[in-house]
Amino acid sequence: MRRRENPMGSTMSRRTFLSASAAGVGLAAASPLQLAAQEDKAFFDLVAGPATAPLLGNEGPASAIWAYGGTSPGPVIRVRQGEQARIRLHNNLPQPTSTHWHGIRIDNAMDGVPGLTQEIVPPGGVFDYSFLAPDAGTYWYHTHNKSWEQLARGLYGPLIVEERTPLPVDREMVLVMDDWRLGEDGQIHTESFGSMRDWSHGGRLGNWLTINGVSSPDLMVKNGERLRLRLINCANARIINLRFGDLAPWLIALDGQPLAQAQQIEPSGVLTLAPAQRADLLLDVKLEAGESAPILEASRLEGIAIGKLLSDGAVGAGLAGTDLPTLPPNNLPAPDLSDPLKLKLVMEGGAMGAMRSAVLDGEELSIRELVARGQVWAFNGVAGMTDQPLAEIQRGRSVMLSFENQTGWPHAMHMHGHHFRIIARNGQQFEDGAWRDTELVAANEKVTVAFVADNPGKWLIHCHMLEHQAAGMKTWFEVVG
Ligand code: C2O
Ligand code: CU
Repeated sequence: MRRRENPMGSTMSRRTFLSASAAGVGLAAASPLQLAAQEDKAFFDLVAGPATAPLLGNEGPASAIWAYGGTSPGPVIRVRQGEQARIRLHNNLPQPTSTHWHGIRIDNAMDGVPGLTQEIVPPGGVFDYSFLAPDAGTYWYHTHNKSWEQLARGLYGPLIVEERTPLPVDREMVLVMDDWRLGEDGQIHTESFGSMRDWSHGGRLGNWLTINGVSSPDLMVKNGERLRLRLINCANARIINLRFGDLAPWLIALDGQPLAQAQQIEPSGVLTLAPAQRADLLLDVKLEAGESAPILEASRLEGIAIGKLLSDGAVGAGLAGTDLPTLPPNNLPAPDLSDPLKLKLVMEGGAMGAMRSAVLDGEELSIRELVARGQVWAFNGVAGMTDQPLAEIQRGRSVMLSFENQTGWPHAMHMHGHHFRIIARNGQQFEDGAWRDTELVAANEKVTVAFVADNPGKWLIHCHMLEHQAAGMKTWFEVVG
């Protein structure tokens, strides 16, 4: 990854984080993100359109991006668990679009998938999204049309579903991570959109990593405070590996769903976030004023600091060091594994893969023909969408789904409308596997998940490495009855 020098300590990022951190005790978001509370019956206007962003900080020109509400990430949309979210999407983009509410067990008509659950929203068009958020947790929203281009241009934002009883912490920070691919001019590298090399390899990887749109931000904290961090990986394809060193935070939720038991991330430990995955952490700040501690991206051995916590004083009666609070579980239906419907998705294709042919639009094509059509990945020998679903499932049926990765690449498998539980990996079974909506399946791995298909409608399953999705790695199932 080519990486420029950080505009670290730029007054801009410093000031932004400082002013937000002055919010003190309570559930304020310490980020330059705007807040959009959903407290009344009115629709919150979410405008998707061209914007500019100071991705290079003081060190270069502003970058032309596409954004929700003029900033990337877009506004933090907060709703309370069990309450109705009402969001009116306005499309001011030069392309059609739609918005998907990632990880929400949503009403199918609100899922935001053009051609499957709604009509696409043309330039100048409007679409009203109105849905119940049944589960508390950290989610996000993003474009679901040409997402390999529209997401890379910046069309995403956090969606926070608050617990009915707030978790007692001093403060909350939403940290949205992305890797942009910028050219020498500091502008989004548009020539490489649609690059077959990216599509057949690991996807579009960027060269400029940001947290909340800022490269290497100083995240202002206070000694003695307990933070809840909500991390979201919005990159098209980059798997982000985080190391927190002595900060040793506690992992309390993955993909919005609380863990049964908080897990401390040891100084040598790594938290992996595949594209679209989220994690909630509790972090007790033990930094005297002026001290700092980096957050490292640890994909390379030495790691690079992608931001740092910087202490500017102490809180009065902070919660650091007190007993850890527990997040109440969401009410997810437990799959019955005595007689589940068994499905499997054999993942094939990509560079250096063994796939010789696949079916595309009902026609068996050789790998050469597939490459010519930009479709180089397949599930069960089929590239791209089909008229018929992978399976038609009776509502309420328990399903056991195996992802068998026969490619040379990792994939972030995402299912719409449901959360699934990880029950086995490479033959090793788990009693207490995590609930997820997106699971990373490494090359040659086999991961089995289980869920109750209780949400009627048409639901996508796809790789969240967006170039893989565009190049064939997607299918759908239907829950009927
Ligand atoms: Cu977050 Cu179908 O995607
Ligand atoms: Cu993939």
